[in-house]
Amino acid sequence: MKNIDEIRADFPILGRRVYDKPLVYLDNGATTQKPRVVIDALADVYLSYNANIHRGVHHLSDIASEAYENSRETVRSFINAEKREEVVFTSGTTGSINGLAFSIGERFVNKGDEIILSHLEHHANIVPWQMMCERKGAIIKVIPVDDNGDIIFEEYLRLLSSRTKLVSITQVSNAIGTVLPVNEIIAAAHTLNIPVMIDGAQGIQHGVVDVREMDCDFYVFSGHKVYGPNGIGCLYGKEKWLSELPPFQGGGDMVDQVTFEKTTYNELPFKFEAGTTDYPAAIGLATALGYVTSIGRNYIEQREKELLSYATERLLSIKGLKIYGNSARKISTISFLLEGIHQYDTGMILDKMGIAVRTGTHCAQPVMKRYGIDGTVRASLCFYNTNQEIDTLAAGIEKVIKMFA
Ligand code: ALA
Repeated sequence: MKNIDEIRADFPILGRRVYDKPLVYLDNGATTQKPRVVIDALADVYLSYNANIHRGVHHLSDIASEAYENSRETVRSFINAEKREEVVFTSGTTGSINGLAFSIGERFVNKGDEIILSHLEHHANIVPWQMMCERKGAIIKVIPVDDNGDIIFEEYLRLLSSRTKLVSITQVSNAIGTVLPVNEIIAAAHTLNIPVMIDGAQGIQHGVVDVREMDCDFYVFSGHKVYGPNGIGCLYGKEKWLSELPPFQGGGDMVDQVTFEKTTYNELPFKFEAGTTDYPAAIGLATALGYVTSIGRNYIEQREKELLSYATERLLSIKGLKIYGNSARKISTISFLLEGIHQYDTGMILDKMGIAVRTGTHCAQPVMKRYGIDGTVRASLCFYNTNQEIDTLAAGIEKVIKMFA
């Protein structure tokens, strides 16, 4: 088992300085840093076996194709999908949801049908459904949240009906950190045979994800939030759904026979992978998942719980600091405001101390509206962060307050 210094040494960027101060990177909800093995894996593709996948008979294409398909197997095993055909590589969470919204809309949604979302969704799990609903004359229903940031489950049960075509819910709120009761949400929808999509953008990096145990119909996530490269992500779907859905993009590799009159499609998962996918990034993603597995997902979950409780206690001891999102089930994300100080001012001053936090609405404007604010400061921690960094954040916040006093 690596100690924290060894873990941090795996991430070269964590050693850099910002404005001549040690970098304190607390913006992991926006994107995570990359361990050297991921950077090396990407470089290795381009340095030693770059060639387009699934297309050539030549040696390099064979190696790249095999590495790409092995990466699919790594993802399958990481999320415990039953079959590799159920794992589609996409550009990320946003790409996955846009594609799925198009395909589900085309195949299953008619005028007056309903899609259920929660009030905790980020824009990527709102706007694609809205675009589809506008096209199809369908309606979005929203599960309300309480003051702590938990969804109101009885209201969810009331929304489910024969008009519901899909429930699309985040596993974890990016803005305030709530962990949603996805197992219960899925089980309730399934009593009416309604499929459920889980948005794992903020879930997959914080612990064990098992799509079979969860029994979700779809699961989406981004590589860059789980220590992998940008521009790659996944759409998991149960085979029974993916085989019924039409493709959301046309192009090379997703076809079987093409004539000007008609095209037949390739088998799963290729039906959903039009064009040249970002195969180096897929290989980098598999390397990242391997790295996470080597650190241990149970260890990560435990360590991040400790960080959350240390940071919550530390920040709450600061007079005038209010935390938004106080669910009993949270990941290590703390959204807060300082009395009388705008979030951008706080963020900008912290930045000058080398502390990277996110400010604003966190691509989740409805969440901010729910709490009557126009944004927060968000510190999103992960297993490579330290208690000392939390102390630096707390001292930084105290300085901000003094400057504005
Ligand atoms: N969705 C990303 C975040 O939460 C960008 O910061």
